[in-house]
Amino acid sequence: MSERIYDIAVISGDGIGKEVVPEGIRVLEAAARRHGFTIRQKWHDFAHCDYYAKHGRMMPETWKEEIGKPAAIFFGAVGWPEIVPDHISLWGSLLQFRREYDQYVNLRPVRLMEGVPCPLAGRKPGDIDFWVVRENTEGEYSAIGGRMFEGTEREMVMQETVMTRKGVDRILKFAFDLAQTRPRKLVSSATKSNGIAITMPYWDERVEAMASSYPDVAWNKFHIDILSANFVLKPQIFDVVVGSNLFGDILSDLGPACAGTIGIAPSGNINPEGVNPSLFEPVHGSAPDIAGQNLANPIGQIWSAAMMLEHFGETGAAADIMHAVETALKEPKLRTRDLGGSADTQTCGKAIASLLA
Ligand code: NAI
Ligand code: MG
Repeated sequence: MSERIYDIAVISGDGIGKEVVPEGIRVLEAAARRHGFTIRQKWHDFAHCDYYAKHGRMMPETWKEEIGKPAAIFFGAVGWPEIVPDHISLWGSLLQFRREYDQYVNLRPVRLMEGVPCPLAGRKPGDIDFWVVRENTEGEYSAIGGRMFEGTEREMVMQETVMTRKGVDRILKFAFDLAQTRPRKLVSSATKSNGIAITMPYWDERVEAMASSYPDVAWNKFHIDILSANFVLKPQIFDVVVGSNLFGDILSDLGPACAGTIGIAPSGNINPEGVNPSLFEPVHGSAPDIAGQNLANPIGQIWSAAMMLEHFGETGAAADIMHAVETALKEPKLRTRDLGGSADTQTCGKAIASLLA
């Protein structure tokens, strides 16, 4: 068998990104050793606010050439509002990647694990285990619209939702493909066709058309209001949940919140065809309130590493990382402060890496 080598771009960013990314890398390297593949890293010293303070921009103009064609980008977190306003730091870095690399899937797991206090009463590990698939490029987040008659009595604003057949079909295809790999094989679609009477019926139509190519996958749809309520009331009924950009945005925060701390939640911004690199990062931001103190929970970053390996097709290594994470979470002395423990970032990261040795 030929040697498996994966080139990754590593960007740790700001705040706790600089503390949790090295732990993610430590675990990736341990998984690679165990499973006989190589992770070749290229670290980039941009897309952080110190870079902005020096250069007046978040990334060099040549960022695309510098990043080149890695298999993926392993990202920490960006943002340091004391130096750079958040819309500048985010639009100047992360959102550039998402757009320029056409990362049209935003993927987040929602899984309740042992050792993580659940904000929903009476739920135990195993009760909550689903994925949120968000369309990441069009929909409600469009640049079509404007403001007229500003400052007058006729002042008006409008912003149009844009759904293209290509954009809708490709996210639905991703969701159905994902459901096909799962035991329950169920897609739940977020709609609001009763109120948003043009684009949402179109979305529903495309869901029905896509479903006809997947006879082995069951599907249903919910209006977004009751769907959100069900995340809280009946999370056990979901397997793969797919939504437009806006609905998916909200669900992809609500879902992980229902399963515990933000410190463990991972995400992928994925270009499934692999024409461009995908980006894997924890859900959380740079956490200025705890940065530099070795307090951050590294598990969101480590779980993101597992998602990245899954994307590479290294499913055994990904499963081993998740098993190590689960084992560590069960151990009170390995829990970080956000989980009620007193372990520091490195202690937690090293323990997970050594479980893979
Ligand atoms: P945040 O996620 O950085 O922090 C929210 C709260 O959760 C804080 O109290 C923090 O201490 C805690 N927290 C976050 N991650 C944790 C971890 N791994 N372990 C333990 N506790 C953790 O969100 P916030 O404060 O709204 O934003 C701070 C900065 O991060 C802003 O500049 C924001 O724009 C940026 N941000 C960046 C994101 C990204 O890079 N994808 C995502 C969200 C925010
Ligand atoms: Mg969000």
